[in-house]
Order: sequence, then structure tokens, then C-alpha cells
Amino acid sequence: MALDAARYVAGLPKAELHMHIEGSIEPELMFELAARNGVPLRWKTVEEVRQAYRFHNLQSFLDLYYDGCRVLVTERDFHDVTRAYLRRAHADRVRHAEMFIGPQGHTRRGVALETVLEGVLAAMDAAEREDGITSGLLLGAQRHLPEEDALAMLEAAEPWRDRILGYGLGGAEVGNPPSKFARFFAACRERGFRVTAHAGEEGPASYVRESVELLQVDRIDHGNSCLDDPALVAELAARGTPLTVCPLSNLRLRVVEDMTRHPLATMLRAGLNATVNSDDPSYFGGYVNDNYLACHEALGLDIDDLTLLARNSIRASFLPAERQAALLADIDAWRAAAEAP
Ligand code: ADE
Ligand code: ZN
Repeated sequence: MALDAARYVAGLPKAELHMHIEGSIEPELMFELAARNGVPLRWKTVEEVRQAYRFHNLQSFLDLYYDGCRVLVTERDFHDVTRAYLRRAHADRVRHAEMFIGPQGHTRRGVALETVLEGVLAAMDAAEREDGITSGLLLGAQRHLPEEDALAMLEAAEPWRDRILGYGLGGAEVGNPPSKFARFFAACRERGFRVTAHAGEEGPASYVRESVELLQVDRIDHGNSCLDDPALVAELAARGTPLTVCPLSNLRLRVVEDMTRHPLATMLRAGLNATVNSDDPSYFGGYVNDNYLACHEALGLDIDDLTLLARNSIRASFLPAERQAALLADIDAWRAAAEAP
């Protein structure tokens, strides 16, 4: 039976584990929020914004991304962008999402941490109530800033500790090695939080190794360059360390030249625990299902691979074992239905 991949992926239950709420502001919403808050934009139309989303590396994207954050001012804004993402994810049959927000990019502009977190958390509650999609929140530290700033964020977020799943590390990778944040990650772990770090997107394999061995992360965000170090690949495979891979992000930030050269298939063949995610979907032109399908088309991933990626996403989530088991059973049921005569 020929696989109708679009239909299969559309109904495949999955988790999304690597996306930035700020990277999901669609241009239409950006204009709406800019008007609401009287924030001037450098573009006149939605088409102009989309045209501007051509990047030659991570930094050229980050410059636009931080600029776009200026439209987020009130609690309602943070609510609306989060609710819009979760609605879109629900349409892609994402059953659970673990989302990054980067408080430093907002508090440095004078937006209170309370405004950010209360808006996001209210939208997470509404999405669960209205659509049944569950979600968790990860606070991302910016690696170009001093470690002290990350430690201050950890302290400031303590009043919300019961609503925060964990902490991550993102931003300009090269020149800001994981070792710069050793104390911050130790403090997060001591306080019982889950931890992840962006590593091996533009940075070398040694940054992936440092994240695992020194920061003791629960997951690596991206991880592409680990393939340059066969001993590291063996270690990651043996540990089962999840990699939250973002194929269309890698294409748009020129981490890969074209999709046929994307390392996802190689990762799976090497026994790595890879998952597929959208990173910053409005900037990179695709939500999570678009990422699954791009890999199916360019890399020839078959129904077994697509199913494995969805299963990996559930098992790599920070959900309790019982909910993981229920979602894995849903995946198996969808697979069985797809193969029924
Ligand atoms: N912040 C948002 N998207 C990111 C990415 N792809 N890499 C590093 N930091 C980010
Ligand atoms: Zn990311």
C-alpha cells in the first residue's frame, strides 16, 4: 500500500519539544499587536515581513527575532501568541508541547516577568481546557549574556516554580560554550528542574559533549554537529539522550545546504534518539507537520521512520510515564489503522 504521508502525518499523535513562543508570532499577529501597543514596525505589509525572513546564519535571524519581540508588551499579548501557537499545534495533532520563552529579552525592555509568565500560563491553561492539548514551559537563558543574568532569572522565577518545567540555553552559539553556564545549570538541577541546551546547531561537536557531560542536560536542542565525532555519537546513542532536531530551521539558517543533505536520516540509522520540531515556525515557514513531511520527501523517511519520530517525541518529553504510555498507545492505534485494509 502506498503511503499517503500527508494524511498519515496529519493524524499522527505527537509531542513538540523544541519551539520558541516568540518565534511563532505570525506576521498578521505581529501587525495586530504592533497596532494595539503603538509599536512602530519597519514593514508596511505582511508580504514585506515574509520577504524579510531570508537569513544567512543564526545571528541574522536572531537580530530580526529580538526586534519582533518588541510587539509583545502586555499580559494579553503573551497570552494571544501562546494561545495561537497551541491552537495551530493542536491542528497538527500535537498532543503535548514543551515550549521555550526567553524572559531576558522581555525584562531587559522593561516588561515585567510577571506579565510574561502570567500571560503564557493562562493561555496554556485555556488550551488544555478548550482543546485538551497539554503543555509545559521552559525558560530559555540567552548565552551571549553573562551567566549572572541567567542566575538572576532563575531566582526571579521562583514564585512560579511549580508551573515551570525547566530551563534551557539559546541564542548566539559560537563563542558562547556551554561551560560558560556550568553554575547556572548546576543550580537549575539542584532545584529539581529539567534542563536542555541548544548545542551543535552552528557550534562544534565539543559543545554537544560539554552539554551532556558538564551541564548534564536531559535533552540536546538541535545536536547536528555531534555526527562529526563518532565516539560522541556512540555515547549519545548509549545514553539515549534525546535530540530535538529542527529540519526547516536548519534549512532556513543554512545549517544545511538543502533538505536532501539533512542529517536526520543518518541520526536515526546511528541509533540516536532524534525528534522533529519546528523551532521558530513563523520565521522558518513551517509547523511541526511541515517538518515531518519535508523529511519524508527529501530523505525518503518511511512510515516506520515517521512513527519512530513520533514515538521518540513522546518518550523524550517530560510527561509522567502513564501519560506517555497512553500517547504511545494512540500512536500505535493510528499506525494500525493506517495499515488496515
Ligand atoms: N532562539 C530562537 N531560535 C533559536 C535557534 N534556532 N537557535 C538558537 N537560539 C534560538
Ligand atoms: Zn531553538
